[in-house]
Amino acid sequence: MKYKKRQFYIENVSAERIARKFGTPTYVYSYDKIKNNIYNFKKNFKSINPLICFSVKSNSNLNILSIVNKFGLGADVVSKGELISALKAKIKPEKIVFSGVGKTIDELKFAINKKILLINVESENEIIEIEKIAKKNKKKINIGVRLNPNTDAKTLKKISTGKKENKFGLTEKKFLELLYKYKKSKFINIICLSVHIGSQIMSHIPYKNMLNVVNRIIQKSKFKFKYIDLGGGMGIQYENNSNKLNYAKYNKLIKSFLKKNNSKIIFEPGRSIVGNAGYLISKIIYIKKTNSKNFVILDSAMNDLIRPALYGAKHRIVPSKLNKAKILKKHEFVGPICETTDKFLNVANYQKINQKDIIVICDVGAYGMVLSSNYNLRPKPAEILVNNISTKIITKRQKLINII
Ligand code: LLP
Repeated sequence: MKYKKRQFYIENVSAERIARKFGTPTYVYSYDKIKNNIYNFKKNFKSINPLICFSVKSNSNLNILSIVNKFGLGADVVSKGELISALKAKIKPEKIVFSGVGKTIDELKFAINKKILLINVESENEIIEIEKIAKKNKKKINIGVRLNPNTDAKTLKKISTGKKENKFGLTEKKFLELLYKYKKSKFINIICLSVHIGSQIMSHIPYKNMLNVVNRIIQKSKFKFKYIDLGGGMGIQYENNSNKLNYAKYNKLIKSFLKKNNSKIIFEPGRSIVGNAGYLISKIIYIKKTNSKNFVILDSAMNDLIRPALYGAKHRIVPSKLNKAKILKKHEFVGPICETTDKFLNVANYQKINQKDIIVICDVGAYGMVLSSNYNLRPKPAEILVNNISTKIITKRQKLINII
C-alpha cells in the first residue's frame, strides 16, 4: 500500500484526484505494477525459458493487452472475441493458444485461419470438427490435448478445474486413447499436452501432484510432446500476511520434470500478472448505523466487482485518506444492489469515515471489470491507466443511453 502524506497513491496519482477527475466507481491500473509482475514472473522461471501466454480472460482491456505484448508475453484466449482483441493488441499468432471446452465451429475456423500456435482441445468431438476443417483446407493443424489430471488444486471449489468431476479436459484413459487414434492422422498433429488445475493456488504441492500425474502419463504414452502447457493458477496475496505461492519451488519442480521430458513449457498466467495492479475507487453514499454494525454503502456493487458475491473472495478496502480516529464497531461494506450477497467485506473496526468519502478496493485487476455486468441497469465503470503522474482513460464510463 502506498500512502504519501496520509493520501493513498497509485504510482504518483492520488485516489482522491482520480475520483475528482473521472468520477466513481472507477477501475484504475498501475502500468508499473503490471511491468514488475511480468519481470518478476520471467525472472523466476528464466531457467526453463517458458512461453508465457497471458490469460486474456482475467483482463481483456486492449490497452492492458498492449502492455502485456510490449513486455513479450503471448496470449491464452477462450473466445473469438478474446482472440480478435489479442491480435488487435499486436500479439503474434504464433504466441497465442486457444483453450476452452466449447469452441464453436466458427471460432475453430477463425483460429485456424489466423494460424495461431495451438488449439487446446478438450473433447473428441472437437478433434473431429478440427479434422473436418483441416481436410477442407488441405492443412495439418497443430493441437494440444487437455488432460484432466484429477488433481486437487486446494483452492476455492468454484475455481477448481482439475478434478475428475469438473467438465475440463479428458480422463487419462480417453487422453491416451485419442493420442493413439490420431497419431497417424493426416490432418491433426498433436504437439502439446495441456493441463490447468485451478486458479488462486497458494502452494506448490498441487502443482507437484499435477506434474507427477503428467509425467506418469507421458511415460506410459511413449509420446513426445513438443509443448507442455501447464496453464496458470498462480495465486496472489489478497490479504495482509497471507501465504504466497513460492515460484522458486514450482520452477524447481518443473526443472526436474524437464529432465525426464524434453519439451517447451507454456504458462497461461492471468491473475499473477494483473491482479494486484488494479484498484476500484468508490465513494461512500451512506453510512447506515445499527446497534450491531455500521453498513457502509458504496457506489460500487456486485455488478462492478462480483468476486466477493460469487466466490466469497475478500478484497482489502482502504481509505483514500488516513486519519487516527478508530471506530470500534463492526463495519460491513456493501453495494446498493437489491441482493443480500451484494456485500464486499466485514471488518471488526475501521477508521472514522463519512458520507462522500473515497475508498479503494484493492487487487481487482484480474476478474474484476471482465466480470462486470449491467445488473440493476447500472452502467459499467470507467477504466483508467496510471503511469507515473499520467492518467489515461482506457475505457469510458458507460452511459445510461447506451444500455437503455
Ligand atoms: N488457463 C486456463 C485454461 C484457465 O481456465 C485459466 C483460468 C487460466 C489459464 C488463468 O488462470 P489464473 O492464472 O488467472 O489463475 N473468475 C475467477 C477465476 C476463474 C479462472 C478461470 N480460468 C476468480 O475471480 O477468481
